[in-house]
Formats: sequence, structure tokens, C-alpha cells
Amino acid sequence: MLKPGVWKKELFFEAPPANPFVRLYHWLSKNRVSLHLLNLPDSPTPQDAKIFERLMPHIRLSSGVYRSTFPRRFRDLDPVVNGVLAQTFPSSLQLLRVEDWAASTCLTSCEWAKTLFLVFPNSKFVASDILLFLVEIENLESGERFIFEPDGHPLQYVNPPFVIRMQPPEHRAVLLNRFLYLRAVRRWLRLADLRTVPASWEDPLSRDPVHRNGYRMRKLPLIHPEALHLAQNDARFLIRRQSVFDTLDDPCHAIRSMNIFNRAYFSEEQLALGARAVISSLLPGGIWIAGRTIREDPAAHEVTIFRKTDSGILDIVERVGPGSEIEPVALAVSRSLVSPSTP
Ligand SMILES: C[S@@+](CC[C@H](N)C(=O)[O-])C[C@H]1O[C@@H](n2cnc3c(N)ncnc32)[C@H](O)[C@@H]1O
Repeated sequence: MLKPGVWKKELFFEAPPANPFVRLYHWLSKNRVSLHLLNLPDSPTPQDAKIFERLMPHIRLSSGVYRSTFPRRFRDLDPVVNGVLAQTFPSSLQLLRVEDWAASTCLTSCEWAKTLFLVFPNSKFVASDILLFLVEIENLESGERFIFEPDGHPLQYVNPPFVIRMQPPEHRAVLLNRFLYLRAVRRWLRLADLRTVPASWEDPLSRDPVHRNGYRMRKLPLIHPEALHLAQNDARFLIRRQSVFDTLDDPCHAIRSMNIFNRAYFSEEQLALGARAVISSLLPGGIWIAGRTIREDPAAHEVTIFRKTDSGILDIVERVGPGSEIEPVALAVSRSLVSPSTP
């Protein structure tokens, strides 16, 4: 009939509480956690970072995509990739340019970059994702808030003790939540003029709040505090918003695209468009690391490491497990780019 939500840190229990009433609350509310808890202090503590990591599985974007990534997920893959890069490029290279696409919280990018910088101190590492932050707009008088994607898709309406799902909408069977959902839709539409996101927020390091007509709008970074810290303190590590379907203006030496070009997410045509974007974004001799994670803890991956030859065709340099499921698409696209008549 009704489901409350987790709307303050104190209710976001790591394990089910002992008290039976609080335990019941925990059970009813565990899938409705307000994403405004992502609003961490400028200098987050390790405890804040933990909260951030625990919040990530609760994020389901309006497109249906989850942002799942885990600390040390590529602990075994990073040395393999660094080994290939060390064999391919001389350490005397003036500047090695590496990109990690669809990097989610950029935590695994940050972990990889730290090991890569030991092998190639002169590197520029860019971690990118289509979505780097969410937005909270709060009515300062009533305390109600909406959490939404920067392009205007609402995800949650928070009116304690309720955290109402806007996408997918609350089910009719949960009567009170459904009622609040319908009310929230009307309120959301009335906010249309207030929710324009400041252009300055495109900069991953900027997060000044905005006040308009009794509302406060805050940026909720989706970047892991450890990755933000590296971006703030090491000029070699940059974070940028970018789609995996866009070709870089300035081609680079290596691109990693893990857990994005999956058959489960995209059609054959979309995968081909993605492969085209990667190949066109690589310099001749460049390396593409493509694959997916098939098991967590301990992590297991299926990865192919390709090299773009001087002619532009991809060669397979190394496989982890049986290799990437999109190998045939990648190879076919590289051939078609070199001789456009190839199917
Ligand atoms: C499952 S996560 C993968 C994270 C990380 N690469 C890993 O393997 O741990 C997928 C990520 O792809 C991002 N994404 C979805 N569509 C995208 C697009 N068109 N361009 C760039 N990133 C995209 C999502 O925002 C999400 O963060």
C-alpha cells in the first residue's frame, strides 16, 4: 500500500538493524534511497566515499542503464593492459594520451591511471562518461525536492518520509506512492522555468549552487571522491563528458571501453557506430581495450586488446578469457573503414 524511503544518512543502514520496527522500515524503504545523499562535502572523508559507493547501485538512469562499477574491478586487467602499452609505445614517448570511455564514477579510471603513470610518467589520461552529475532542486520552504538528470529527466521526488520514483513511475499497487507520484508530476511540470542547469557545471570540478525563486539547485556529482581528488591534484588526469558514439577531434594512443559496447545494451548497428567512433579516435598504432565483466568478486572479464595498424585495420594483440563478444563487429568495421566497399 505504501513504501517510505531513505531520505537521510542515518537511515541508510549498511546492514539490517536489530530493532524490529527499524528493521521493518529498512525492509520497506531499502529500494528507495534519496540520491540527494550524493551531496558530499568538498573534502569527503573515507566514510563519505563509502556512502557514495553504496549509493551507486541505487542509480537507475531514465534510459534504464545502471552505473555499476566497483573498486578494484580491473585490478588484474590493468597490468595486462599496461604491459601491452609498454610493448607498443616507447617510454621515451613525449606524451602518451589514454582515454577511458563510459567510465561511470571514474574510480576504475583513477586506479588504472595511477598504475599507468608509473610506467608512462608523461601521460594525459581522460576519463569520460555521458553523465557526470545529477541535479537536485529543493523548495527551501517546504523541503520537497526533485532529483533529475541534467537534460531534464526526473528520477525522484523526495518528500520525507517518502522517496517517490519518477522513472520508472511508482506502480499502481503501491497506492499512496502512486498518488504522490501523480502529484509530483504536476509539480515537476510547474518547475519547468527554474530547472535550467548552469553551463559552468559542465566543468566536473565546479559545483556552486544556484538560487531561484525560493528554490535551491545543487549539483550531485557522480564522480567518485577519489577520482575527483586525483583530477584536482594531478594535471595529467582529466574528467570530461563525452558519448561513446562521438569521435575525438584529437586522436589518442589508447582507448578503453569496458562494459559499454555489450550486445545486451546495443544493436549490431549501434555497436558498429561505436566501433567506428573508437577506431577513428585512435592514432595509427593505437590500442583499443574492449570487453565486459562476466563475474564480480573475484572479477572475471572477457576482453580483446586490438591494435590499429598503420593501414587502419585492427589486429588482435591479446585476449583475456575468450575475448570480447564484439570482436567480429570491431574487425568488420575496421576493414570497412579502410575499403568502404567491404560489407
Ligand atoms: C556499466 S557502466 C561501466 C563503467 C565502467 N566502464 C566499468 O566497466 O566499470 C556503463 C556506463 O556507461 C555510461 N554510458 C551509457 N551510455 C553512454 C554513452 N552513449 N556514452 C558514454 N557513456 C555512456 C553510463 O552512464 C554508465 O556510467
